[in-house]
Amino acid sequence: MKKTVLITGASSGIGKASALYFAQRGWNVAATMRRPELETELQQQQGIRLFSLDVTQPESIEKALADTLAHFGRLDVVVNNAGYAIKGAFEAASPEQIQRQFDTNVFGLMQVVRAVLPYFRQQGQGTIINVASVGGRLTFPLYSLYHSTKWAVEGFSESLQYELAPLGIRIKIIEPGPIKTDFYDRSQDLVTKEGLTAYTPYQQAVLPLMDKVAARAEGPEVVAKTIYSAATDGKSRLRYASGRGTAALLLMRRLLSTTLFMGMVRRVAERGRKQGMPNQ
Ligand SMILES: NC(=O)c1ccc[n+]([C@@H]2O[C@H](COP(=O)([O-])OP(=O)(O)OC[C@H]3O[C@@H](n4cnc5c(N)ncnc54)[C@H](OP(=O)(O)O)[C@@H]3O)[C@@H](O)[C@H]2O)c1
Repeated sequence: MKKTVLITGASSGIGKASALYFAQRGWNVAATMRRPELETELQQQQGIRLFSLDVTQPESIEKALADTLAHFGRLDVVVNNAGYAIKGAFEAASPEQIQRQFDTNVFGLMQVVRAVLPYFRQQGQGTIINVASVGGRLTFPLYSLYHSTKWAVEGFSESLQYELAPLGIRIKIIEPGPIKTDFYDRSQDLVTKEGLTAYTPYQQAVLPLMDKVAARAEGPEVVAKTIYSAATDGKSRLRYASGRGTAALLLMRRLLSTTLFMGMVRRVAERGRKQGMPNQ
């Protein structure tokens, strides 16, 4: 029997690449997104059906799940992929911006898990794949809010897998490194606050380094592949690094002391400052 996967944030990047990857391997795909009416490419693919789902709207999660079950008759895997990043100095972020970052990346993901659990329990099986980030295990400057959401996803997923394993439900965490998608463009919200200039020189030096990394990054297909392996390998493995150099970076983070690792990050940021950034 054909298996079914539901993916959040399938309008672009990793979510869209995953929708195509699963469909090409004969899966039914519920490609969910905030505005399915704007999506044209996935519409035409066999096995893919678009559903409206905003992770910050619990009723839309319930409806998308019900519609998926009504249309495909079953659900085997859920991929919690929707997310975006706030970047910039923490002090510049408003309470609303902080709330929205957590509403999307953490509480939205939890709502999807809450909605699907009764169904997976009844079925006695199911796999929940949470797209965290390499940034859920280590940190870079000026992404404190984004990192804190991804660290939350890591902790949530790691603890949750204990209570779900006896019920036949698996949790998987995907940890992509830098991947070339809309993430470095429209899915990043640079926070600013009128009159707050104390962080400007540091920001001007450090943020372009991230853009450079993004420019050299691989496309989202590599993560789609990792997500597919996590969905199909039949293992109880929890974490899957994804992307060039990601596993090595995580290994380095594990082997080095926090002081050494943070010193390394600081030195890279410092290099950015020395490369002729203003006010230095
Ligand atoms: N790219 C990277 O380097 C990288 C690295 C590590 C982890 N990740 C993670 O990978 C995931 C996917 O990112 P991406 O790189 O594929 O970026 P992307 O192309 O910008 O995709 C982000 C997706 O999230 C959706 N989204 C945002 N808010 C949503 C909401 N409230 N409800 C439903 N969908 C929402 C966006 O939908 P709209 O089209 O409606 O905006 C879009 O489909 C994110 O969780 C991100 O944190 C990315």
